[in-house]
Amino acid sequence: MDSQNPPRQCLMVIFGASGDLTKRKLIPALFDLYARGQLPEKFAILGVSRTAFTDNEYRQKVHEFSPQTYADKEQWKSFADHLHYHAGDSTKLEAFAGIKQHISQVAEAHGTGENVVYYLSMAPQFFEPTILNIGASEMVTEGRRYCSINREKPPWQRIVVEKPFGSDPASAAHLNDVLASVFDEEEIYRIDHYLGKELVQNLMVLRFANTIFEPIWNRSYLDHVQITASETVGVESRGAYYDGPTGGAMRDMVQSHLLQVLAVMAMEPPVSLDAEDVRTEKIKIFKAMRVPSYDEVPELAVRGQYGAGQLGDQAIESYRETQGVNPQSQTDTYTAMRMFVDTWRWGGVPFYLRSGKAMTKKSTQIVLYFKPTPHVLFRQLAHQHKANQIVINVQPDEGIRIRFEGKVPGHGMHVKDVEMEFDYEQQWNAKPPDGYATLLYDCIRGDQTLFKHRDEIECAWKAVQPVLDYWKANPQEDLPNYAAGTWGPEAADSLLAQDNRYWHNPE
Ligand SMILES: NC(=O)c1ccc[n+]([C@@H]2O[C@H](COP(=O)([O-])OP(=O)(O)OC[C@H]3O[C@@H](n4cnc5c(N)ncnc54)[C@H](OP(=O)(O)O)[C@@H]3O)[C@@H](O)[C@H]2O)c1
Repeated sequence: MDSQNPPRQCLMVIFGASGDLTKRKLIPALFDLYARGQLPEKFAILGVSRTAFTDNEYRQKVHEFSPQTYADKEQWKSFADHLHYHAGDSTKLEAFAGIKQHISQVAEAHGTGENVVYYLSMAPQFFEPTILNIGASEMVTEGRRYCSINREKPPWQRIVVEKPFGSDPASAAHLNDVLASVFDEEEIYRIDHYLGKELVQNLMVLRFANTIFEPIWNRSYLDHVQITASETVGVESRGAYYDGPTGGAMRDMVQSHLLQVLAVMAMEPPVSLDAEDVRTEKIKIFKAMRVPSYDEVPELAVRGQYGAGQLGDQAIESYRETQGVNPQSQTDTYTAMRMFVDTWRWGGVPFYLRSGKAMTKKSTQIVLYFKPTPHVLFRQLAHQHKANQIVINVQPDEGIRIRFEGKVPGHGMHVKDVEMEFDYEQQWNAKPPDGYATLLYDCIRGDQTLFKHRDEIECAWKAVQPVLDYWKANPQEDLPNYAAGTWGPEAADSLLAQDNRYWHNPE
């Protein structure tokens, strides 16, 4: 996390250039960085996918997708000069002679030298052949070779890998091995856009730049922690993908994003903000995540699937009626889980994670519930007292709220919960940058802090795999079990109720 380290010249090669993620997130993020002057002067993008486009056709396609993003004509024109396209099938080795030649041409035209970021923005079944073809075509030439002319700053080739990263522990480990056969771990950037979100990064600042929070951030003071990621939309046009082997809320959200948020929330203070030190502490949390036994699964995990419902004026069709979805699908569009992190700091503190589609409100939120006071002085109101809470709104309405008890004005000792709030937009008079812009900037600068290490991914899979195995072997009869537009199945409420707790539904 070295903010002093400026980005150096480089070329970004995006495999999957005509796809949704590239148009919707990657190019807009790069444009945003360009407009802010945060890209190196010598920078270019080469998009690769199979569909044939000329450079101009590709630029037009990108522009048409979101004209409002590129509304500043001058800015767009000068940015578009850096945008190039190559038609090719990256799963075919023979396509790489042309790709390699095109890379050299663009690099020469823009003076980007040998520094290259390869970005895999394509379906996961294409990751392995593309990585192996990059290796076989000798497109990772220098890496960290010590005999470079300038030893201080040797050229580099990095790779960014999108999610899903495997679909179980074995496939994730295999993909890691494939990557390691071509790239050093220091050049592998496993992206998770949740880690690019301002409030997730702010968690580290909240904890480690203040003295008032860290002393109470442990089992002595915290009763439990809730992490929620809810969406209002259903699967929309992505039914076939979501109903496939890498879909479902547990794989798509909990295993990847929510466990990352948990790790940042739970890690010990790192000795520095260097990527290695931060990731070392996160890895310890991943290793300490309790892996449930198969038999424990029904006690600690809930699977949900939405049926038809209503959100405001909008009718949402049942998941099983969505195009591309198996009408008898067992896929979890909702998952809730109780987890434990077996460390000195967190022993016995439950972490409740939940994520769902077609829910009442879109929100990603972390809520820390504190224990009651050791002695209840305000006895007459004891039953009304709410736990002290720290609520971290990761998105939207980014900010942090602290809820505590205060005295109601007037005679008598009446107590009521009150809030102190830090609202990101109000405070900084700005919207937080998109997570992709932050992460692309870090990758170009060579900062891996906000990217996942292979151990994090493999441990995260191990932590959820027993649940996935149990669900696969035990189809659930009551699906769909929640109506679209609600907060999920009753069983998820029971999961907390049996511990005498309840979900904090974002307001
Ligand atoms: N979309 C999102 O919001 C989102 C969010 C988070 C993560 N992701 C991840 O990002 C990746 C891309 O998702 P997406 O939604 O952009 O997928 P997509 O819309 O299906 O795009 C896939 C891209 O890959 C290209 N492609 C397919 N086969 C190829 C081949 N053999 N050689 C070269 N290019 C090939 C396709 O273009 P041609 O058909 O022209 O080759 C297309 O440009 C996936 O791993 C996804 O899980 C997506």
